Amino acid sequence: MDNFIFHNPVRLIFGKGQLSELKNEVPKYGKKVLLVYGGGSIKRNGLYDKVNSLLKEIGAEVFELAGVEPNPRVSTARKGIDICKTEGIDLLLAVGGGSVIDCTKLIAAGAKYDGDAWDIVLKKAEVKDALPFGTVLTLAATGSEMNAGSVITNWETNEKYGWGAAPHTMPKFSILDPVNTFTVPKDQTIYGIVDMMSHTFEHYFHKAGNTPYQDRMCETLLQTVMETAPKAVEDLENYEYRETLLFCGTMALNGMINMGFRGDWATHNIEHAVSAVYDIPHGGGLAILFPNWMKHNLKNDPARFKQMAVRVFGVDPTGKTDEEAAIEGIEKLREFWSSIGAPSRLADYDIDDSKIELMADKAIANGEFGGFVTLNKDDVLSILRASL
Ligand code: NZQ
Ligand code: ZN
Repeated sequence: MDNFIFHNPVRLIFGKGQLSELKNEVPKYGKKVLLVYGGGSIKRNGLYDKVNSLLKEIGAEVFELAGVEPNPRVSTARKGIDICKTEGIDLLLAVGGGSVIDCTKLIAAGAKYDGDAWDIVLKKAEVKDALPFGTVLTLAATGSEMNAGSVITNWETNEKYGWGAAPHTMPKFSILDPVNTFTVPKDQTIYGIVDMMSHTFEHYFHKAGNTPYQDRMCETLLQTVMETAPKAVEDLENYEYRETLLFCGTMALNGMINMGFRGDWATHNIEHAVSAVYDIPHGGGLAILFPNWMKHNLKNDPARFKQMAVRVFGVDPTGKTDEEAAIEGIEKLREFWSSIGAPSRLADYDIDDSKIELMADKAIANGEFGGFVTLNKDDVLSILRASL
């Protein structure tokens, strides 16, 4: 293992009916609340009314920022920052999926910064403070509800980058009620499943060595999601399936299963470049790219890929080389994602090779990358070509 310090201060409030905890949490931070949400799903499923009536009960003064996009944009965060500065907001409350939460993180940091919010995303400005914020999560996917990360798009420059500043950009509290995820449509449910599995793969491929317990935590998480996913996508309002996915999504990226190593994260970097150019759903992009990243890098450590194939995908290694077993595991991953309805080619989003150089340039903009295997532009091009 690498040396590490683990500290996750997010107050995780999980389960049916836990929304009422807002009445205990919000008053700790003040009266003026900026409610941040997306394109209207929370109005259609009634969550907006429930949140507002609880805030009313405790006498909060509520301001609103609506319309946060999937793949949230810096332009929207700037609007929220203006509201915070003008109105003297005490607490931000994100009600939505990862995009709403990520946008809220930038608003929270931007409200305490005099320059432009994009400086923060580019890490040109150090985040020394942020407004407190809480979340009510409505979609199991990113883990943003219990981590410091945020991913923001600048649509003017076609750039999408992750940034984060623990502990300032960690929610003070996050409320996770599986019932609030019942209305997530099938496609978004699938993208969320792919995303949480991908976070686990990103951890799993690391160079730290001697992580037997962490390996098994990752493997167990993957197996649990794979057991649940096919049932969940056919029964979207099943409480237990939603509960399992919601819990796994948080556990996949809250620092618990990757204590002692950082992992690879190259596939996320490439996906962010693809969605910066084409605005596709993050989980959809990952489903296309990850098996191709695996095939491209298999030779660097066949034994590691074989371990995944055997333990997670039930591959029988008898009479096979490590590489053969590993390839079988990767094929099984592809089959599994296809079986639940995830995309497998960039062509599924009408993406051809015309902007492949541009995407590779964006992926490599900050230099070669990848914690398990370092990728250069040629590697990225070859993964993208295999994904067409
Ligand atoms: O905008 P609304 O109307 O709310 O609709 C959303 C959106 O259209 C809808 N939705 C969410 N909850 C719903 C619902 N529809 C019905 N019922 C509900 N309960 O789902 C759509 C997608 O929402 P979004 O928040 O974009 O999805 P997700 O949670 O997958 O977030 C994706 C974003 O997070 C970033 C991604 O790059 C992408 O920008 N990531 C953030 C990470 C982090 N902060 O740690 C890590 C991830 O790897 C990821 O990169
Ligand atoms: Zn992700």
